[in-house]
Order: sequence, then C-alpha cells, then structure tokens
Amino acid sequence: MLKAVLFDLDGVITDTAKFHFLAWRDLGAELGVTVDEAFNEELKGVSRIDSLERILAFGGLADKYSTAEKEALCTKKNDHYLELIQEMTPADILPGILPLLEELREAGLKAIVTSASKNAPGILELLQVKDYFDGIVDPASVAAGKPAPDIFLAGAELAGAKPAECIGVEDAASGVEAIKAAHIPAIAIGDAEVLAQADRVLADTSDLSLAVLRDTWEKATA
Ligand code: G6P
Ligand code: MG
Repeated sequence: MLKAVLFDLDGVITDTAKFHFLAWRDLGAELGVTVDEAFNEELKGVSRIDSLERILAFGGLADKYSTAEKEALCTKKNDHYLELIQEMTPADILPGILPLLEELREAGLKAIVTSASKNAPGILELLQVKDYFDGIVDPASVAAGKPAPDIFLAGAELAGAKPAECIGVEDAASGVEAIKAAHIPAIAIGDAEVLAQADRVLADTSDLSLAVLRDTWEKATA
C-alpha cells in the first residue's frame, strides 16, 4: 500500500530553481564562468558545495580555491539567493501542490520533504505550508547527496514506511536517479527526455493528484 509521498522542494513545491540559477549565474560571472540554463540543469538537486565544485570544474578552476574560500563563495551565493526569495508568498506554491497536500492529509498519507536544500524549512514557512508535512529530512544528516539514495531512504524512515511503500516526486535528473537508487517509484515533473528514468513524467505540477500518484505507484510495484 502507498503510505508516504517524498517531495523534492525546489521545482516541485515552488519554483526556486530560477532563483538558484540567478544566484549561481551571478557568482559564476564574478569567477569568469558562464552558467547558462543548459548547464544549470545539471545543478538541479545538487547540494550547494557540490554545485560550486561543478561550476569551478566547468570553468577549469577546480584547484584554484581553498576550502575556506569555497565556503565563502557558497555563503555569498546563499546570501544573494536568500535576498531573491524573501518576497516569496503562498502565491508562489506551484499549481496542484496545495490540493495534493490536502488530498494526502485527508487520505492519511504521510508527506515528507526530501530536499537537498538547507533553506527548505525557511521556504516552507514563507509559503505557509509547513503544517502539511509530517517531516523534513535534514540534508546535513545524510552521508551522500543526490544522486545517492540516502535522502530518500531517510525520508521513508521518517515516514515510518518501507521504500516500496513510498513514491518520490522530483524535477531533477539527479533526484530521479536518487529515488530509483532507493528502489522507490518516481514521478518526475518536466522534460520527458531529461527525466526518462522516472516511472512517469508529467509536464506540470498541475497534473499531480493522489489518483495519479497511486496509479503510478501501483504500476511500478506490480
Ligand atoms: C536543491 C536545488 C539545488 C540546490 C540545493 C541546495 O536541490 O535543486 O539547486 O543547490 O537544493 O540548496 P541550498 O538552499 O541548501 O543552497
Ligand atoms: Mg528540485
């Protein structure tokens, strides 16, 4: 039986992906690295420090900065990101998400946030949806980030469910890879080619519903 839904945040619950992109693009420009939208796709779902490492490697700067300097660059990116998201309100919840959370609550299914973002709790407060969730996995508590399965396995545990009793919702290729590595059925939102590993790809969050989650889960676990 499907017992829990494991939600990515950025690009699933709300469109913070555009703000991460702007903050990385500006930091990249300062470092002399061009972060365009195609390259940004590879940063989705990837932790802050790993994103910086990828940008530095992309620009041929992998060995240029010390650990302390990299931490300072991450802080700079995050300060800019926090400025950009401060204006977020419940109006920024993506279409279909609130009705889905209502449906899950009504049906007694658990909803867990499995985001790589250390900003997730603050963003859920801004969106005023924190109460809909039964737990938020602290990304700092898991050994390896997406595409490793750790955060989704921790999410299942937090829900008190087995991986096979959960379904994961993601917008990033690294996230879908992580869900599948955890042996959890996956629904992806976005480009069917980029997200081909998912059990079902939806064009938009407004296509999400408990019926679609159940149907996907049943087919994936049959
Ligand atoms: C999500 C986003 C990534 C971001 C990561 C860490 O996975 O898709 O773009 O780098 O979270 O976010 P944070 O808010 O901790 O910098
Ligand atoms: Mg995401």
